[in-house]
Amino acid sequence: MILQVRDLVMRLRSGGREVAILDGVNLDVAARETVAVTGPSGSGKSTLLGLIAGLDRPTAGSIVLDGVEITTLDENRLARLRRDRVGFVFQSYHLIPTLTAIENVAMPLELAGRPHRLERARELLDTVGLVGRADHYPSQLSGGEQQRVAIARALALRPPLVLADEPTGNLDSATGAQIIELLLALNREHGSTLVLVTHDEALAARGQRIVALRDGRVVGAA
Ligand SMILES: Nc1ncnc2c1ncn2[C@@H]1O[C@H](COP(=O)(O)OP(=O)(O)OP(=O)(O)O)[C@@H](O)[C@H]1O
Ligand SMILES: [Mg+2]
Repeated sequence: MILQVRDLVMRLRSGGREVAILDGVNLDVAARETVAVTGPSGSGKSTLLGLIAGLDRPTAGSIVLDGVEITTLDENRLARLRRDRVGFVFQSYHLIPTLTAIENVAMPLELAGRPHRLERARELLDTVGLVGRADHYPSQLSGGEQQRVAIARALALRPPLVLADEPTGNLDSATGAQIIELLLALNREHGSTLVLVTHDEALAARGQRIVALRDGRVVGAA
């Protein structure tokens, strides 16, 4: 298992009272699997992904990522694990507006001190079909193109786990479907694991397994 989530609870204070945003979530994901997480708005999908990514700490429960219990790691080790082991793709692409496409993709390589960053970034842009747009700024790219840059960046360090939160949420359905096919193909190629949050049932069905959340609980798996 690359990911084991056990009895995960996230409670937050809202309007003076405690609400359980995640209420005992269990999830096992095998290496190389592609899992789609679905559920209505507010069911806790982004919260779950954020906890798996180590962006936040749960109230209770355990998350073992690639053999490491992350909920009790100190900030430095967590940051390193996040950088080396997890790639993220978000709904809004989170590209750096003052950097070109190739510079955005090279950024994680630079932070990790990798050599030949621009060559490697160019190869990555090639795999997402954007080598011709390498010197464009995000504002000069379409939504689908920006998301492809974001995917190339997320995969730059070849993370074993890729987390995608509504990566097609801002795209038309044809472009969205292309983005999902690209994510699936690259994960297959890299042998990485994909956990994909989506509202879209047709896109969810492209994964190997669907986990449905409702009110912070897993209510179905297919
Ligand atoms: N920081 C916070 N403080 C209080 N409540 C929060 C906080 N973050 C999220 N919530 C609440 O937790 C619940 C789950 O939010 P989450 O963003 O995980 O849902 P989601 O399933 O991703 O929804 P969507 O499909 O709309 O993105 C929501 O009711 C939300 O309002
Ligand atoms: Mg969300």
